[in-house]
Amino acid sequence: MAGRFPAAWLDELYARADIVSVVSGYLQLKKDGRRYWGLCPFHNEKTPSFSVNADLNLYYCFGCKAGGNVVQFIMEMERVSYQEAVKLLAEKMHMAVPEVQNDPDYERRRSERDRLLAANREAAHFYHDTLWKPEGKTVLDYLHKRGLDDGTIRRFGLGAAPDQWDELIKYLVSKGYTKQEITLAGLAVNKGDHHYDMFRSRAMFPIIDQQGNVLGFGGRAMGDAKPKYLNTSDTPVFNKRKGVYAINLVKKIRDLKRILLVEGYMDVVAVSQAGIQGAVATLGTSLTNEQARLLKRYAPEVWIAYDGDEAGQHAIERAISIFEAEEMPVKVLSFPDKLDPDEMIRQRGVDAFLAVRPMGAVAYKMQRLRLQYDLETQDGRTEYAKQCAQILKKVKEPVEMENHLEALSVQTGFSKEVLMAQIGISPELMGQNKPTEKRKEYPAKRTRLPETYKTEQTLLALMALDKLPAGTVKADDFSHPAFRTIAEAMLSGKKPAVIMAEAETDEVRQAAGEVFTVLSDEEKKNPAAVAKDCLRNLHIQRLQQQINDMTELMRTAAGGQEREKALKEVMQLSKELAQLRQQGR
Ligand code: UTP
Ligand code: MN
Repeated sequence: MAGRFPAAWLDELYARADIVSVVSGYLQLKKDGRRYWGLCPFHNEKTPSFSVNADLNLYYCFGCKAGGNVVQFIMEMERVSYQEAVKLLAEKMHMAVPEVQNDPDYERRRSERDRLLAANREAAHFYHDTLWKPEGKTVLDYLHKRGLDDGTIRRFGLGAAPDQWDELIKYLVSKGYTKQEITLAGLAVNKGDHHYDMFRSRAMFPIIDQQGNVLGFGGRAMGDAKPKYLNTSDTPVFNKRKGVYAINLVKKIRDLKRILLVEGYMDVVAVSQAGIQGAVATLGTSLTNEQARLLKRYAPEVWIAYDGDEAGQHAIERAISIFEAEEMPVKVLSFPDKLDPDEMIRQRGVDAFLAVRPMGAVAYKMQRLRLQYDLETQDGRTEYAKQCAQILKKVKEPVEMENHLEALSVQTGFSKEVLMAQIGISPELMGQNKPTEKRKEYPAKRTRLPETYKTEQTLLALMALDKLPAGTVKADDFSHPAFRTIAEAMLSGKKPAVIMAEAETDEVRQAAGEVFTVLSDEEKKNPAAVAKDCLRNLHIQRLQQQINDMTELMRTAAGGQEREKALKEVMQLSKELAQLRQQGR
């Protein structure tokens, strides 16, 4: 079934759908004010952090950050497509499902995609079946020689591309696919009007997505033929920067503690055969942010287990910074003697592999830095300490900081106090167990928001009620970037559910999810008045901030003239502030 539902009908469906009753069909909800709470169905928990907002038809989990509207909830729970979820919802609401609208272009793209995916699936079957035939013997022998057993080969659907020119093309044509489609799927190449198989004489690794679609293949050459691995080039269904090898298997593991990110297809397969769960690999390119975000959905942490050679170690540093940018906790497994995970297991045994302890990202970065400096010299130690201080600025937990300081102090001979000064933290802060740096990212709980952001959040929530007179709030009223993005979307007429559904970054989605759950009943009764208060408070807070900045400048300004100017400004700002406070009375 392709096409789209009529917009008016969808509006009606969303208006009628009561998310509380839909969600209640799956889990128990308890009412608390206007919010409902329950145990999150998307992660394992003992105390409820899953909230449902009846007014806005949204759900949001403060624990795992899952969130969305009622249709997305059904998609996740039932693991169905958008269209199927809409139909299920319509059934629940006793609404007749209308004929889908015919959008020829949409229809064409969909059916093209469906046909390419079907061709890929046929190809995967063809390769896998070939493995057990005489034409596949060389490849099967190769896989066996590499230590893979038949169970593993079946689980990963490995296959053999025969040593012929166009066996796959012939097979797919017999199944009704055109040469053009086969080429479009990246399974064939053409020279002039001659087509031949893209993959020949290779061991085939099908790349399968979360939904079970075969998106493309990686093919390993027999022996030393070049290139060693040939990957499907990008096609309408395959994007090597987005997909992740073996994500289809990872998705099935419940409560996976950590993803194990390795470099190669063969590493994934070998690790998995050794009984170690959760291994994945990128598709012949280095890690991208999109892939990191995909991985984040399936486990709370990732361990990077790249090759032990210099290239691998360098790639680890890049991968760490990507995971840090995506806020996914990361650890590193570092193998000796340039081994990769497959070699580690085959040559040293599973126990040796398991004995490699995961190292924190900070410790790993410091270890890498250490290789660059000669710690025998004072200059080397000084430079090394400075560089480490840069890394340590990001450490948030005082206890963790203490451990790193201890180590660094031993290595460099600088006292911990000096190192702290270099990092820019005061010893008192360490003593009081406070975070060492202001958290810039969006905090998990509202209570941790700085005052200004709290006010902005309330203001945003009031906008979401859609009861403020036009022009009351502007996007510029927000200083928090995620809030500003959401405000802009709302001002352009988007509904909260749509904003959450379309959010481009997790931060925006998370912020949106929380924003829509913060208002008290009292605040909801008087949106215009509360908004006015918020705006006034923001104004006051900003003036106060400016005054503080100026005062600071006055204290540090070098020249008398500069100080004079700052003083004037402070007086002006103070006057404004006093007036503003007066007005509020
Ligand atoms: P490696 O060269 O580290 O190979 O490539 P490997 O995983 O150890 O493979 P074996 O053990 O020799 O069979 C790691 C990954 O880099 C990509 C592939 O995704 C491969 O799995 N790669 C490598 C290519 O895309 N093309 C190549 O020619 C080589
Ligand atoms: Mn290898």
